[in-house]
Amino acid sequence: MAATKLAAVVTLLSFLGPVACQGSNSSPICLGGWLRPVKVLNFLLCPPGSSRKPPPGPSPAPSAPSLSVGYYNYACPNAEKIVRDVVENATCNDPGVGAGLIRLFFHDCFVQGCDASVLLKNTSGSSDETEMFGAPNVNSLRQSAFKVIDDAKAALEEACPNNVSCADIVAFAARDASNILSYGKISFAIPAGRYDGRVSLASEANQNLPGPSEDLQQLKASFASKVLDTNDLVTLSGAHTIGLARCMFISNRPGMNATLAIELSQKCSSGDSTRVNQDYKTPDVLDSQYYQNVNDNDVLFDSDAALSSAETQPLVNTFAKNLKEWEKEFADAMVKMGNIGVKTSANGEIRKTCSIYNS
Ligand code: HEM
Ligand SMILES: *[C@@H]1O[C@H](CO)[C@@H](O)[C@H](O)[C@H]1NC(C)=O
Ligand SMILES: *[C@@H]1O[C@H](CO)[C@@H](O)[C@H](O)[C@H]1NC(C)=O
Ligand SMILES: *[C@@H]1O[C@H](CO)[C@@H](O)[C@H](O)[C@H]1NC(C)=O
Ligand SMILES: *[C@@H]1O[C@H](CO)[C@@H](O)[C@H](O)[C@H]1NC(C)=O
Repeated sequence: MAATKLAAVVTLLSFLGPVACQGSNSSPICLGGWLRPVKVLNFLLCPPGSSRKPPPGPSPAPSAPSLSVGYYNYACPNAEKIVRDVVENATCNDPGVGAGLIRLFFHDCFVQGCDASVLLKNTSGSSDETEMFGAPNVNSLRQSAFKVIDDAKAALEEACPNNVSCADIVAFAARDASNILSYGKISFAIPAGRYDGRVSLASEANQNLPGPSEDLQQLKASFASKVLDTNDLVTLSGAHTIGLARCMFISNRPGMNATLAIELSQKCSSGDSTRVNQDYKTPDVLDSQYYQNVNDNDVLFDSDAALSSAETQPLVNTFAKNLKEWEKEFADAMVKMGNIGVKTSANGEIRKTCSIYNS
């Protein structure tokens, strides 16, 4: 029943070819590395009849011993294409879905490892609430992102039943969302072969996910506990260049851009649960604008502003100036995050339905 472990014979080319530009007929996307101004995102993401150029090649990154690139090439050759099509369709309709998918991957990996525990509605052996009901997740992770995973899983169960883990779907979807929201500039192969967990606890989500009012020492400790270093923290925080945040998390720090602070307090007058763009300049583009925002004091959370600390300021400056450098580092850091606490057939399973562990 377990997906066969297919180590080596994987060609990056045969993998990247289809994944790079396999638009569904309804939404051809072609991301050849061009970047444009942002205003009309849907049009730019899904230009009618755009030509299909391959993206730049992947940057090799170390993978956990049990994972490999192209893991499903033999047992389910279309697995990554099937995920890509679902992500592409949903993200073209609403770039927020892509933001939701990237965050879903982070919230999965930091709690019980990258094992799709964040998708479970019940945990094995108790009736306690699962991760998705924890404070960082409830009313926060996007339902539209869960739906992408469920839709992809349904298609995969048709194509190759019992073979593709939900944990790998989450990882593929985050990778594809990164590619789409960066207009193809962030393009990387992500190793797969993760198994799904059976344990999911809200209390563990509360403990393991860093909060928006944390300072640099706390953030570093949180990442270090997942074997991610300070550079990974700085690099991955750049994901706050897309998506939304609720007003309740916005910091009151005196240094914040006063004009922005006034605009935010006006928007937030309709309540603490109002959602605002994290990056008011290029809200739906996965770019390095976040680092300029850190320098301009235009970021929303204390945890973002914390990156102006002496220790992290140099890397923030590098990324603010050098988009390409950040894109490359972000891809590597996503792969590294995807190695956290990976489960194997010995302590995991290939779930049949992503929200329910196998009986
Ligand atoms: C460094 C520590 C981090 C903290 C304290 C933090 C905190 C938060 C908070 C409070 C929100 C808003 C949630 C809401 O209003 O419901 C948010 C949104 C978001 N975060 Fe983070 N985050 C961190 C790191 C990351 C990382 C590593 C990633 C991904 C690589 C990420 C991706 C996102 C995305 C994409 C959103 C917007 C989601 C959406 O619009 O659906 N964050 N984060
Ligand atoms: C998937 O897993 C099953 C066992 O559940 C196995 O028999 C089959 O060969 C695998 N591959 C495909 C493509 O279904
Ligand atoms: C594409 O997305 C739309 C809207 O979210 C949905 O109604 C449609 O069924 C999707 N099509 C495919 C082929 O996934
Ligand atoms: C499973 O989770 C649902 C939703 O959280 C809950 O209503 C139900 O009681 C749980 N079932 C079991 C067997 O724990
Ligand atoms: C401060 O915020 C305002 C309003 O959002 C913006 O126009 C301005 O460019 C910001 N200043 C800096 C230095 O980023």
